[in-house]
Amino acid sequence: MYDSPKAEAKLDQKEIKIAAEGVQVFYGDTHAIKDVNVQIEDKTVTAFIGPSGCGKSTFLRCLNRMNDTIDSCRVEGNIRLDGEDIYDKRVDPVQLRAKVGMVFQKPNPFPKSIYDNIAYGPRIHGLAKNKADLDDIVERALKRGAIWNEVKDRLHAPGTGLSGGQQQRLCIARAVATEPEVLLMDEPCSALDPIATGQVEELIDELRENYSVVIVTHSMQQAARVSQKTAFFHLGNLVEYGETGQIFTKPQDPRTESYITGRIG
Ligand SMILES: Nc1ncnc2c1ncn2[C@@H]1O[C@H](COP(=O)(O)OP(=O)(O)O)[C@@H](O)[C@H]1O
Ligand SMILES: [Mg+2]
Repeated sequence: MYDSPKAEAKLDQKEIKIAAEGVQVFYGDTHAIKDVNVQIEDKTVTAFIGPSGCGKSTFLRCLNRMNDTIDSCRVEGNIRLDGEDIYDKRVDPVQLRAKVGMVFQKPNPFPKSIYDNIAYGPRIHGLAKNKADLDDIVERALKRGAIWNEVKDRLHAPGTGLSGGQQQRLCIARAVATEPEVLLMDEPCSALDPIATGQVEELIDELRENYSVVIVTHSMQQAARVSQKTAFFHLGNLVEYGETGQIFTKPQDPRTESYITGRIG
């Protein structure tokens, strides 16, 4: 009874979904990420902010081993998803990327129908028992992508025929179709107009209920609107990480302060 504030604080404590320790990334001789340590919470939107070239995308790509696909790229350190080392040689990167989905800067639907864009992942991962089951998965994913109503009457039309904002929501639906646990988004609104941006931001807020979402954004306004946690990167260092409100109102590091007040970046 008497210690209820403490109990409440405990309830607020989110599980750690991803723990990164001593992460270093090199592209040949370029040292792009320098000893980054961070714990990313479940059911939380975490924003990565910082000036262009500071390593936001590079670090994001470490979290689902997308950097494996870049020849010159070398990743060191330890990254655990639910306590399991994702760089362990027994981990299949394709399976990992189904669990840790990704949405890119430019909407990139496959040159296939809306239906097949969503069905692709569930098919290769054998998630559907039969056609009816696959139909259900597609419908559910499109609903979670907040685009079902706009496309339900034209599921067999090409995904590339949608507007930019619809394409991005289709890509988000495609990412959630494989039942991921984490969604990585690299500047997902940078190719969208303000209305489509608003729709995607609203969707990100809803996704937080079920997923751990990590979003790279060059817009501090967007970080402030959608995230609960913010990490500020500068020259490959994670300079400051904390509650979004605190980062924007009471930054602890002078570099963070310079950036949010517009002096660097
Ligand atoms: N594929 C790559 N090959 C070589 N260098 C790269 C590559 N991608 C990024 N870099 C370098 O790594 C650093 C961080 O880049 P990046 O992660 O793209 O930053 P941000 O997303 O914050 O703009 C930069 O110096 C950039 O030039
Ligand atoms: Mg980037």
